[in-house]
Amino acid sequence: MPSSKTVSDAVATRRSVRAFLPTEVDEALIRRVLAQASWAPSGGNLQPWQLIVLKNEPLEELKAIMRRRLIDKPNGETEDGEAVDFKIYPSPLEGVDRARRLAMGVALYEALGIGKDDAAARQAWHHRNFDFFGAPVALFFYVNRKHNGPQWADIGMYMQSLMLLLREQGLDSCPQEAWARYAHTVNAFLKPSPDWILYCGFAIGYADDRHPVNQFERARAGVEEFASFRGFRSD
Ligand SMILES: Cc1cc2nc3c(=O)[nH]c(=O)nc-3n(C[C@H](O)[C@H](O)[C@H](O)COP(=O)(O)O)c2cc1C
Repeated sequence: MPSSKTVSDAVATRRSVRAFLPTEVDEALIRRVLAQASWAPSGGNLQPWQLIVLKNEPLEELKAIMRRRLIDKPNGETEDGEAVDFKIYPSPLEGVDRARRLAMGVALYEALGIGKDDAAARQAWHHRNFDFFGAPVALFFYVNRKHNGPQWADIGMYMQSLMLLLREQGLDSCPQEAWARYAHTVNAFLKPSPDWILYCGFAIGYADDRHPVNQFERARAGVEEFASFRGFRSD
């Protein structure tokens, strides 16, 4: 995908990319966009984001560890929908949340030509998360245990800033909460501060634009579904 020159273009061309080219990513560029993204706002300017960034040997080593781990724990180290340290989704997942999650899965697996009853193929695809979908740079977002909902939201703002800045550089990304279900394994390797909770992995690289998984249509609710307007005169 060509690089974005406006914020609107970066927003419009950002998508969760799940197939990357092996093309090298410049290290200085990664450092620069990580620094730029830190101009994201945060309540009280706490800047609560904590990252571990991987490339080359440590990345390959972690992926090799994960390949072995996926054999004995193919469905995560936790129950579905639960990270090691927090619940990824509301439990039970109901109503519109459930419908949207299911619709997203249907679109993804249809693009890949994987049938809804083909559990083995679905799992094999899901496991590609742990290869970072072939991305040459990977990072992990950590949250301090002492931090609360507002700080998690601040980290989301950093993440979105990063994703848009990456688009400006012609780069793509995929946030990956799937990693939070293997936090024991990841942390045993990365040895982060014991105060940190693994929030998600994050893949960075150049998209393989021809791969069908990077082409399926994504859905969004209309603005009337999530915003109610008061005092506007146009309606
Ligand atoms: C915090 C976060 C975690 C996510 N985790 C995963 C993941 O583990 N694997 C994956 O394939 N996509 C993951 N996604 C991507 C979402 O499925 C995606 O954002 C959503 O379907 C909307 O599609 P879009 O990002 O292409 O617009 C994650 C997104 C966010 C924001």
